[in-house]
Amino acid sequence: MEGFEGRIAVVTGGGSGIGRSLAEAFARERAKVVVADIDARAAEDVAGGIRARGGEAIPVATDVADLASVQALADRAFSTWGAVHVLCNNAGVALWGGLETATHRDWQWALGVNLWGVIHGIEAFVPRMIAGKQGGHIVNTASMAGLIASQGLGVYNTTKYAVVGLSETLQKDLRPYGIGVSVICPLGVATQIRRSDRNRPASLRNDTPSPGPAVELMGRTLEPDHVARMTLGAIRGGQLYVITHEESLEPLRKRFQRIERAVLELTR
Ligand SMILES: NC(=O)c1ccc[n+]([C@@H]2O[C@H](COP(=O)([O-])OP(=O)(O)OC[C@H]3O[C@@H](n4cnc5c(N)ncnc54)[C@H](O)[C@@H]3O)[C@@H](O)[C@H]2O)c1
Repeated sequence: MEGFEGRIAVVTGGGSGIGRSLAEAFARERAKVVVADIDARAAEDVAGGIRARGGEAIPVATDVADLASVQALADRAFSTWGAVHVLCNNAGVALWGGLETATHRDWQWALGVNLWGVIHGIEAFVPRMIAGKQGGHIVNTASMAGLIASQGLGVYNTTKYAVVGLSETLQKDLRPYGIGVSVICPLGVATQIRRSDRNRPASLRNDTPSPGPAVELMGRTLEPDHVARMTLGAIRGGQLYVITHEESLEPLRKRFQRIERAVLELTR
């Protein structure tokens, strides 16, 4: 995709952090933006701020874990502006603790938002984007936790590995339709992710408080605007992986060296 002027972009989790920065970056490029978030007030604030600066944006209260809610989001986007060119499946939540202590509700909440949220976005938007024959781009926000496994992040790792795998396949599947795919894989970003519990539905809360403090992330903590700039660059350039931190290179290399050693040891 070459430019964003006049294009329609939908961003889930657009009320805060990386999603907010993506929504504002699209608006600066003169795209029309649908800001979707489970926190209706946050979505309104971001869309209102864009409009106050002369841009075009609408807020839509959306729970990405609920297919009907994401279909309603797609209906709203297509009925308002007639097309969608960029879909950012960005909403996500983090939780910490060993897999041996993860509760069923932990799995349901994290998979519901981080994985089903992305799947619902694809189900609700992609067939209509294909039918619109205007090409476009899908951005899925995974994490470096989708490529490197860390102790104490197992549930989150599971959701994000799935999003990376899904994105790698989606890129191949959508190429014939002129729809590109990018997957964002950051280390630390200065957002509200450590307060993810604020949006956890009452029905999926644990009876006892979660164990232990948040896992300390390696590397620098980047500003979300920086991640958004890199992502828009990746959309323009048609790049699949948005690897935001160069510190990721060493652990990635070590992971693939471990895999290479395993192959050589077992097959020699
Ligand atoms: N911040 C980091 O260090 C970091 C690193 C790697 C990946 N990520 C990923 O970036 C994405 C954005 O997170 P962030 O860091 O900006 O955090 P954030 O908490 O600042 O923003 C997440 C947004 O998602 C919304 N949200 C939560 N549950 C939702 C639901 N069910 N439906 C719709 N919206 C929902 C929240 O209200 C919030 O506005 C997530 O997918 C996260 O896993 C973040």
